[in-house]
Amino acid sequence: MEQQEEKIQENITSNKDVIVINRRSFFAVLLGIGTAGMGALLAVPVLRYVLYPLYAKSSKSIWTPIGAMHEFSDLSKPILKPLDLKQVDGWREVDSSQTVYVTKGANGKMEVLSAICPHLGCTVAWRKGHDDFLCPCHGSIFEADGKHVSGPSPRGLDTLPHKVVDGKLMVKFEYFRENVPNQEVVS
Ligand code: FES
Repeated sequence: MEQQEEKIQENITSNKDVIVINRRSFFAVLLGIGTAGMGALLAVPVLRYVLYPLYAKSSKSIWTPIGAMHEFSDLSKPILKPLDLKQVDGWREVDSSQTVYVTKGANGKMEVLSAICPHLGCTVAWRKGHDDFLCPCHGSIFEADGKHVSGPSPRGLDTLPHKVVDGKLMVKFEYFRENVPNQEVVS
């Protein structure tokens, strides 16, 4: 009888241990899940910050003033304008210089052309006597409105978005894919 009581007592003690261990495991799992959840929540903004330059467009152009509109009242020939550009590249702001031509487009309206040759990226120059643009690298020739005349360039000179703000002509300078027939923005 005494032995039986001891056995029962032993069983009760062992069951209590199991319950305590199970409770501990449950709280440990709960704590683990909570910690992992918090870690994931904190990791999202950090990852977004670190990876931003990878998924963001490589660089973003900013509208840049070219000059007062009255400077472009006579577009009988393209007008060369140097630009000081600011571009946002990931977290950085990059300063650079570029050249554009303000000219009369095929439809008679004002156009802003990039001076970067669409073939392999040399800078075209306006030739006074010939009234055309010549690329010094491989000899591509373009009309005053940017239309391709001859040479290896697969397309005409690239047109840039422009607008007038408070009497000033503004341009959004963009870079385009080289050596392809259509104008594709790359940055
Ligand atoms: S870079 Fe202009 S023709 Fe080749």
